[in-house]
Amino acid sequence: MPDLFTTLATSPVARRVGVPQPTRLRRFAPGEPLCDSPVLVAGGGAFAGAVRDHLASLGVTTVDALEVAEVAEGAVDGTPPVTDAGRLGAVVLDLSDAVDLGDLDRLRTLGAPAVRRLARNARVVVVGRDPDTVTDLEAAVTQRALEGFVRSLGKELRHGATANLVLAQGDRPDGVVSAVAFFLSGRSAYVDGQVVVVGDTPTPARSTTLLAGQVAVVTGAARGIGADIARVLARDGARVVAVDVPSAGQALAAVANEVGGTALQLDITAPDAGTRIVEHARGRHGGLDVVVHNAGITRDRLLVNLDEQQWSSVVAVNLRSVLRMNEALLAEGGLGDGGRIVCVSSIAGLAGNRGQTNYAVSKAGVVGLVHALSRRVAGRGITVNAVAPGFIETEMTARIPFATREVGRRMNSLQQAGLPLDVAEAVCWLAQPTSGAVTGQVLRVCGQSLLGA
Ligand SMILES: NC(=O)c1ccc[n+]([C@@H]2O[C@H](COP(=O)([O-])OP(=O)(O)OC[C@H]3O[C@@H](n4cnc5c(N)ncnc54)[C@H](O)[C@@H]3O)[C@@H](O)[C@H]2O)c1
Repeated sequence: MPDLFTTLATSPVARRVGVPQPTRLRRFAPGEPLCDSPVLVAGGGAFAGAVRDHLASLGVTTVDALEVAEVAEGAVDGTPPVTDAGRLGAVVLDLSDAVDLGDLDRLRTLGAPAVRRLARNARVVVVGRDPDTVTDLEAAVTQRALEGFVRSLGKELRHGATANLVLAQGDRPDGVVSAVAFFLSGRSAYVDGQVVVVGDTPTPARSTTLLAGQVAVVTGAARGIGADIARVLARDGARVVAVDVPSAGQALAAVANEVGGTALQLDITAPDAGTRIVEHARGRHGGLDVVVHNAGITRDRLLVNLDEQQWSSVVAVNLRSVLRMNEALLAEGGLGDGGRIVCVSSIAGLAGNRGQTNYAVSKAGVVGLVHALSRRVAGRGITVNAVAPGFIETEMTARIPFATREVGRRMNSLQQAGLPLDVAEAVCWLAQPTSGAVTGQVLRVCGQSLLGA
């Protein structure tokens, strides 16, 4: 159901007076092509070839350059009229070879004509190198500069188009290709202006049944984002254990039945929560490969009005339980080698938010956990990442006072709130075996929210 703002903003009167119209975002649907218009893959970097090969294997048409004639034809002030047939579905600019500031000109010379030709809901993906792995000073500065381009372009693009950056730590193309494919697809509909660092870890070949044979646990699965995470995990082939508090038992059972998984009624703050999850997953499904720490609560008040219960309950559910459960999940007999831990943080944990000191403490702590734990378990091939949702339409955000809610929905480059499905898609990408080169990352799913952008 459209919210009040959308109803007003899309009314005939609003359209006539030029109120900006939020675009219906292109979201993933099984069986649909990764991208249905041609993709320009340009730049002199070493990953462009692997990206082209991958897109070709999926039946996506790629072009290496825009024909000069195409750009100049009918140009008025250098701006050609573009027909729908001539539109690009995406642009991948591989600048991983950029070593001096002059190389950055390619962002403009390749990017500007391509951006003019973008279709609705197009994607721009820049590929670079993680500056922390580059020894030459100017080369490191040049690579860091790519971030400014992507974050600004994300704010310039319209009609549901997004811009994101993939930074490689090594020369292995598999992880880079996986990240580029995610950003090109409808799975990343609400991810805009973001940076993902990809390690040099070998990853398994891609498969069409992305999570086939995997056992995945998701906490807080009875409703909202958690329910959609359970649905997308199952859609992608995983057997799902849906966890939520006993008082949500009926809704939890409905979700578990819908996805053909099992339900585990459990308060995650219980001291033995991790052990019970491991026992259930092993006993009912024979193993445990993916854990999604999604359950969370808010108790919003200004700091001066927060009581002890409002503070400690939020920290207990959102952070302490995750820390404690991980001990059991990572112990002998828990999560297998090559496993995936995906946490759900929040942009409030990155940028802070008025009235949410308790919540922001808990969600910033989750970011700290991801950074610290990812290094500790890397030797076992286990990855630890988080998504940081912005404003997502759920029962949690439905409780926000009206005016604050309306502002929260619009204050992002895509001019709309995200859906639980958008967060679920990002979680499930991080959960895939093919995402093994991505660890210690916090991926914002916020439409490039202005909050701490
Ligand atoms: N909705 C948003 O805009 C938004 C934005 C940023 C982050 N998040 C985060 O996303 C996650 C899901 O949010 P949502 O909007 O779907 O929330 P929601 O309130 O709709 O659902 C949360 C679920 O967690 C369960 N839960 C709460 N405490 C639990 C406990 N102790 N043990 C087991 N289960 C418990 C609830 O019963 C509920 O089913 C949370 O971590 C939240 O902080 C949400």
